[in-house]
Amino acid sequence: MTCIINILFILIGLGVLKLILISIFFYDEIIQAKKKDPAAKGFLEILLLYQGLHALVAYRVAHFFYKINLFFLARFISQMARFLTGIEIHPGAKIGKGLFIDHGMGVVIGETSIIGDNVLLYQGVTLGGTGLEKGKRHPTIGNNVVIGTGAKVLGNITIGDNSYVGSNAVVIKDVPPNSTVVGVPGRITKQDGKKIDISLDHIHVLDPIMQNIEELEKRIDKLEKK
Ligand SMILES: CC(C)(COP(=O)(O)OP(=O)(O)OC[C@H]1O[C@@H](n2cnc3c(N)ncnc32)[C@H](O)[C@@H]1OP(=O)(O)O)[C@@H](O)C(=O)NCCC(=O)NCCS
Repeated sequence: MTCIINILFILIGLGVLKLILISIFFYDEIIQAKKKDPAAKGFLEILLLYQGLHALVAYRVAHFFYKINLFFLARFISQMARFLTGIEIHPGAKIGKGLFIDHGMGVVIGETSIIGDNVLLYQGVTLGGTGLEKGKRHPTIGNNVVIGTGAKVLGNITIGDNSYVGSNAVVIKDVPPNSTVVGVPGRITKQDGKKIDISLDHIHVLDPIMQNIEELEKRIDKLEKK
């Protein structure tokens, strides 16, 4: 009986130690979560219940093993974290401090992605490649970038510092710093706080299929006239 109680105390002690270590080493991330999630009520809630933080803790461990070429172990940890949190961060990705993944489910961060400091990702974000290319094939995300829910940022492109990617955008070209990009394919609608493309008709600009249909209609009209 005493033996079981001792084991219990040891386990509780290890759990508490783990929480203390996470609080110390992931302080920036917890503070960013508190700042960026209006629903976050406190430090302990974030520490215990935010899967974005848990995925990041697992990523840091996996990344350590990746760097010393223990690829299987690194990938194993990352897949376990994916199973538990719904967030898939490849252990090869490079992530700065203060990343906050809000809600998290369905986030995918590819192997050669680079993420700067204080970035905010919402659920369903993909930082992916565009095909079967090798080498650096995933995006580089600058500091203080926000990527909205469901957005896909694809290929070896750069999203400049302080930029916003709208929810559900598909971004396949570089985005300069201090910009807002929305739609499919992603179009820059704001830069340095100023609206650009003032005459922007979002329905047509954001829907390339509609644009093609309109062009075809014009050509049919011309042919009919002939
Ligand atoms: C893009 C975003 C950052 C807004 O940026 P903003 O600079 O405040 O832009 P505005 O609201 O002034 O909108 C600019 C234009 O883009 C359009 N727009 C905004 N978000 C858009 C989106 N996701 N997709 C397509 N168009 C969008 C607006 O309708 C507006 O068009 P208009 O100029 O014709 O009126 C924001 O809409 C967004 O998508 N944030 C992500 C938030 C998120 O994912 N939350 C999840 C919480 S769980």
